[in-house]
Amino acid sequence: MGIIRKQDTVLIRLFKGSRTYQNILAENFLVANITNDPVAFVRYAFSDVQPEDIETISSPGREFPVLKAAQSWVAFECINTKMTHQTLVAELRPLRGHVRSFYPKAPNRGLSAIIEATIHTTRYKMNGEEKYLKLIDFYEDIINKCGGEREKEAIRLLHSYL
Ligand SMILES: Cc1cc2nc3c(=O)[nH]c(=O)nc-3n(C[C@H](O)[C@H](O)[C@H](O)COP(=O)(O)O)c2cc1C
Repeated sequence: MGIIRKQDTVLIRLFKGSRTYQNILAENFLVANITNDPVAFVRYAFSDVQPEDIETISSPGREFPVLKAAQSWVAFECINTKMTHQTLVAELRPLRGHVRSFYPKAPNRGLSAIIEATIHTTRYKMNGEEKYLKLIDFYEDIINKCGGEREKEAIRLLHSYL
């Protein structure tokens, strides 16, 4: 999901229909799992999180799940939630965060292309418009040219969700 920061305000804009949308309405709580693993990006955009994929964090007042695949995570309370016809916009107030590991990773066109191809796949699955298949093909060429093994594994996985 795209988390938007404007100075000291952090926001999320969710389109109707996702599970995250329903969870935020019900719980007013969100955990952002941060990763630069292309396979995790694809996997968790399209498939359910399995019990063995998560670590449970105990915090005063509540327990919450975080992905083992996340290099860092932040738990947020959602406040000032506003609904429009198609979207929900919530302000995110950080409650707790953790950095598990940090290592410098050079920007890589293959990873960026996986992110773009994943977004286009979510849209294709929503409305089936052919233009998204063309865009996915375009990014696949970049992944094959510039991506490493993990990006290539991620594009294979992405195809299995198309
Ligand atoms: C990089 C990326 C960013 C995305 N950002 C958003 C977003 O900001 N808001 C949104 O509603 N969907 C966004 N999506 C689409 C959701 O990931 C998609 O609807 C997904 O199916 C939601 O999963 P869920 O049903 O488990 O919540 C994004 C997808 C990707 C790959």
